[in-house]
Amino acid sequence: MATSWVNSAERIGADLHLAVEGPGGRRAALIRALREAVRSGRLAPGTRLPPYRSLAADLGVARNTVADAYAELVAEGWLTARQGSGTRVAERAEPLRHAERTPVEAPPRARGPRHDLRQGTPDASSFPRAAWLASYRRAIQQAPNEVFGPGDPTGRRELREALTEYLARARGVRTEPDRIVICSGFAHALRLLFTPAFTPAFTSTSVPTSVPTSAPGSGVLRGPLAVEAYGLDFHRELLAAAGVRTTPLPLDADGARVEQLGRERAVLLTPAHQFPTGGPLHASRRTAVIDWARARGGVLVEDDYDGEFRYDRKPVGAVQGLDPERVIYVGSVSKSLSPALRLGWLVLPERYVGGVLAAKGEREAWASVPDQLALADLIASGAYDRHVRRMRQRYRGRRDRLVEALAAHAPHVEVTGVAAGLHAVLRLPPGTERSTVRAAARQGVALDGLAAFRHPATDMAPQDGLVVGYATPSEHAYGAALDALCRALPATEHAAGSPAYG
Ligand SMILES: Cc1ncc(COP(=O)(O)O)c(C=O)c1O
Repeated sequence: MATSWVNSAERIGADLHLAVEGPGGRRAALIRALREAVRSGRLAPGTRLPPYRSLAADLGVARNTVADAYAELVAEGWLTARQGSGTRVAERAEPLRHAERTPVEAPPRARGPRHDLRQGTPDASSFPRAAWLASYRRAIQQAPNEVFGPGDPTGRRELREALTEYLARARGVRTEPDRIVICSGFAHALRLLFTPAFTPAFTSTSVPTSVPTSAPGSGVLRGPLAVEAYGLDFHRELLAAAGVRTTPLPLDADGARVEQLGRERAVLLTPAHQFPTGGPLHASRRTAVIDWARARGGVLVEDDYDGEFRYDRKPVGAVQGLDPERVIYVGSVSKSLSPALRLGWLVLPERYVGGVLAAKGEREAWASVPDQLALADLIASGAYDRHVRRMRQRYRGRRDRLVEALAAHAPHVEVTGVAAGLHAVLRLPPGTERSTVRAAARQGVALDGLAAFRHPATDMAPQDGLVVGYATPSEHAYGAALDALCRALPATEHAAGSPAYG
C-alpha cells in the first residue's frame, strides 16, 4: 500500500501524513510509520490517536491491523491506552524524540557581514506592523467573498483607486484606475513588458475578467531597449534572459544623455534618482525624452523605485505627468514598506493595458489579493503617508550621520547622490575602487563598488566609487558600521575622486 493521509483532523488535532509502506506487511508498516511520527515529533506527547475504525478507514486497512499496531506500540512504551481517554502518545516519548532528532537539526545559520551597507533594502525593523495589521484586519472584515476566490489579474479596484489618488498627489502621475495593473514589483513589471504573452494552462468560466487574447511569442515591448550606462545588474540580466538586447546611454551631471537615443523604441530610466549614481534627470532631458518618444513612436519605462524619499526642497515628480501616453510608470512598495510584500503597479498608456493583462494570464498569480486590499486600506487611511514621512525623517537622519562621519574622518572623499533615496555614492580616485571594497570587507563591511552596476557595453569612462546603502543596519549598529567604513577609505594624500555625474 502506498502513502495515505489521516483525515481525522478533529480527533488528532491536525492531518498527519503516514507512509504505510515497506517490507513485512501492513501491520509492521503502520507500526514503523507511527513510531517514526512519534520519534520525529510530528505526533507530540499526549496527542490522542484516532479510533481504530476511522484510522483503518482512512488508510484502507483492516480495523484489527490498527488495533494490533496500537497494542504493539503500547507494549513498547510509545503509546498509552487508558479506559475513557483512548490511545495517546506517551509523555515519556519526549526525551527520546529530542535525542533522536539531533542528527537532522538544521545546520548553523550562515553568518552575514558584520556591517551590511549594501544598497537595496529598506530598514526592515521599521515595517509598520501595527498599521499593516489594522489595515489587514479591516480589509479582511469588509472583504466580499469573491476576494477569496481566483483574483482578477488587473488587481483590486480598491487598490487601483487608492493608487490613482496617491500617485497624483505624491508623484504627479496622471492616470485613472483602468490604466493601472497590479504586479509583484518592478522585476515582474519588466517580465510582463518584455516576455512573450503567457498562455494560461487552465480555462475557467468563473473569473470575471476581460483578458484580451494576444499573439503568443511577442512581448508588449521589444528590444533593443536603451538603458542607463550604470543600472541594476539584476534587471539587465532579467532582460537578457528574456532575449532583450540593452544599449547603454552614457550619464553626465544632468543624468542620462537621452539625445543619444538611436533606433530603440523604448528606454528604461530612473529619472527621480538615477540608480545608482543618485542625481535627478535634468528638466531639459525630461522634455527631450518625451519629444523623442513622440517623434519616434517610442516609450519611456519610468522606474520610480524610491521617488518618495527626497530630502531637499526640490520635489522631483514623475516624468509620466508630462505625457501619460508616452510613459509606462512603474512603482512598488519595495523601498517604502518592504521588498517582502511583492506588490507593485504599472501605470500604462491605454494601448498597452490589454497586452500586459494578456501577459499576466487569466488569474492573478503573483500579487496576493488580500494584501492588495490591505495596501489599499493603508493608503486610503493615511497610514501609508504617515509611514513614508516617518521613514523619510529616519533616512535623512542616517544620511546626515554618514555625511558627518565622512566630513570628520575622510574629508577628502566626495559624497554624491545624497539628496534622495536610501544610498549614497562615495567618489574614489581612479583605480582604487576594488582595493577599497576589499579593505571594507576586511573591516567587516559589505558593500558594492560602482563597477558592479556598469553596463558591460558602455564606452563611458569608468567611474570609481562605493555605493553605500544606509537603511539596512539597525539603529544601534549604524555608528559602528560608519566607523568601519571610514577606516576602509583611502588615505587623504591619494584622494581626488572621479568626476561626479550624479
Ligand atoms: C533600481 C531599482 N528599481 C526597482 C527596484 C524595486 O524592485 P522590486 O519592485 O522588483 O522589488 C529596486 C529595488 O528595490 C531598485 O534598486
